[in-house]
Amino acid sequence: MSESETLVTKNTRSFNLRVFGCQMNVYDGELISASFMKRGWEPSSDPATADVVLFHTCSVREQAEERVHGLLGELRRRKKANHNVVIGVIGCMADREGRELFDREPHVDIVCGSRHFPELPDMVERVLGGEERICELGESPNPVDEPERNLAGFPGGYQAHVAVMRGCDLNCTYCIVPSVRGRVESRPAAEIVQEVARLVEHGVTEVHLLGQTIDSYGRDLPKEDRPDLALLLDELESIERLKRIRLVTLHPSYVDQRLADAMARSSKFMRLLPVPMQSGSDEVLKNMKRGYNSALYRQRIGLLRDAMPDLELVSDWIVGFPGESDQDFDDTLEALEEHGFLQSYVFQYSPRPGTVAFEIEDDVPKKVKANRNHRMLDLQRQIARQRTPQLVGQVDSIMLESRPERSPGKWLGRTRNGHYALIDEQADLAAGREIPVNLVAYNGRELVAELRGDLEEVANYQRQEFHV
Ligand code: SAH
Ligand code: SF4
Ligand code: F3S
Repeated sequence: MSESETLVTKNTRSFNLRVFGCQMNVYDGELISASFMKRGWEPSSDPATADVVLFHTCSVREQAEERVHGLLGELRRRKKANHNVVIGVIGCMADREGRELFDREPHVDIVCGSRHFPELPDMVERVLGGEERICELGESPNPVDEPERNLAGFPGGYQAHVAVMRGCDLNCTYCIVPSVRGRVESRPAAEIVQEVARLVEHGVTEVHLLGQTIDSYGRDLPKEDRPDLALLLDELESIERLKRIRLVTLHPSYVDQRLADAMARSSKFMRLLPVPMQSGSDEVLKNMKRGYNSALYRQRIGLLRDAMPDLELVSDWIVGFPGESDQDFDDTLEALEEHGFLQSYVFQYSPRPGTVAFEIEDDVPKKVKANRNHRMLDLQRQIARQRTPQLVGQVDSIMLESRPERSPGKWLGRTRNGHYALIDEQADLAAGREIPVNLVAYNGRELVAELRGDLEEVANYQRQEFHV
């Protein structure tokens, strides 16, 4: 049977999979969907009618978990009316809460941790066969990633996620990820390159390579022929129709000259890079056990910017970490300004049971956290508004993304370093197509682009690009 075939019959049973959390969960969701479809199950978007309802969860903040508990509560009545419906809680929350989840949610049938996803269809069959409360957690002898991914769960489109490594070997004091996702396991480089090539055959032009500390990729693999992220970028260069590679997420500790050089020579690396700083205060960084201070962060970013002057950076920040004073927070605002990030994701500190920081008093009041959150986002907006117009007058290329409703007759695209640009609709433009443009103006929100040359030339340009 080919990978895109599914056994859909009149009596096909259906599964509903709801994904929360990070992009790794989105990727794993595609693998899980494929494993069910391979067994003849049909995906359903309706949890009120599906035969199996799975919550693919996140534990990074308390709010994310509470949301899932709320939704599980809504299913209680359905389970009472139809005992045959199978309910599963899978992923990070399963690993964190474990068997105790059955106490709070007695109508749940399956609790399945992140390293046991391939067993999920079997677990569902076991429940249908009469077994109760199946729980699989922690390590598993079988890898989550098969050497050749079944692409049946890939929803299509020009963007695709590919996990290059799983887990995290660091121990930031606030973070639940290492305990729920386990230690780092990198995938072999050949497996990743082949997966990207197959996705490109399905029309993908932009891949997002995923890992919690993606710049540490390969360090856990045997010494001889050990790959790293620089090598992976070089190898992906040979996939002609692949246009853009995004990396999610780097940790400053692993950034080095070799990686900066590889990014700079890659024609596909998207120069919009998440390198989360978390805080600008050395004291807070030390208490978070991030493994760097603001000076080291500056040095690593310097390496990257020297190699790629047009690089744009994205950061995550935690505000209200225990002990964060007004002065510490001012240092964070200053760091945001100094490094001129293009985007920031700001999170209010949420104590996670089992982490080191959980033992420290969560002493920054909620109101103060919310206020700091707002101030960060305000400053971030101002900075982005200053950076984008600086591209006016430049020659660039944009990847077309969508036709936004708010701008009729226009396509929205992104420059190679992540700024948004609008271009007039014309024949042959399509999502996932990269086109050469002149950036001619800024409309207060995004850049205004004009096609460089006519479409015939665009085709030539793209052919030439394949041969550099
Ligand atoms: N591996 C990445 C981040 C993974 S978690 C890194 O090290 O940068 C995604 C983001 O959630 C983190 O960057 C952090 O900003 C936020 N986060 C993690 N734990 C948190 C907590 N306990 N409270 C609030 N935000 C948290
Ligand atoms: Fe969590 Fe730190 Fe690992 Fe990121 S690097 S996943 S914040 S422990
Ligand atoms: Fe959340 Fe797990 Fe991702 S805790 S951020 S879903 S690795």
